Amino acid sequence: MWDFLTSLYPWTKVLHVFAVVSWMAGLLYLPRLFVYHAESGGSGTEIGRVFETMERRLFRGIMNPAMTATWIFGIALALTPGLVSWTSDGWIYVKLTMVSILTWFHHWLGRRRKDFIKGENRVSSRRWRMLNEIPALALAVILIMVIVRPF
Ligand code: HEM
Repeated sequence: MWDFLTSLYPWTKVLHVFAVVSWMAGLLYLPRLFVYHAESGGSGTEIGRVFETMERRLFRGIMNPAMTATWIFGIALALTPGLVSWTSDGWIYVKLTMVSILTWFHHWLGRRRKDFIKGENRVSSRRWRMLNEIPALALAVILIMVIVRPF
């Protein structure tokens, strides 16, 4: 049923990796913007509005489409005959767990973005710096799973 995906495989992979890189850029940079936004003082200031514009464009213009494309082309790869053995490959389940964490983190960041707009951010800049490590750690685990495939 999914045989047609075999001839598309190299292109599906190019699009998957392109989407992954774009999504990760946003997941790593948005919390970094929140660090500087949290340190910039109260909401309603000129600099606060500049941060809100940067955050909105990054989240809506890049991160949302990149996450959607990552899922679409990732699922297409998973359905391509011969790439994943759902009974004997363990790496895909670890990978999907990490991708679920990244997807949850993405939506959580989206809600925190709205807190900034309402002047209700309650996360300190120090905490934002620590949260910045979540996507980096998940990315490291995913790369080990897809490239080393330890199990
Ligand atoms: C959304 C769910 C996802 C699914 C179902 C999925 C599925 C897959 C599959 C089946 C492959 C293997 C292709 C092959 O054997 O050649 C692959 C490759 C890859 N995936 Fe994903 N993926 C997803 C999300 C992600 C995410 C979030 C990242 C990184 C943050 C990622 C990074 C990669 C990379 C770098 C490769 C290429 C590895 C290589 O062949 O050298 N994927 N993906």
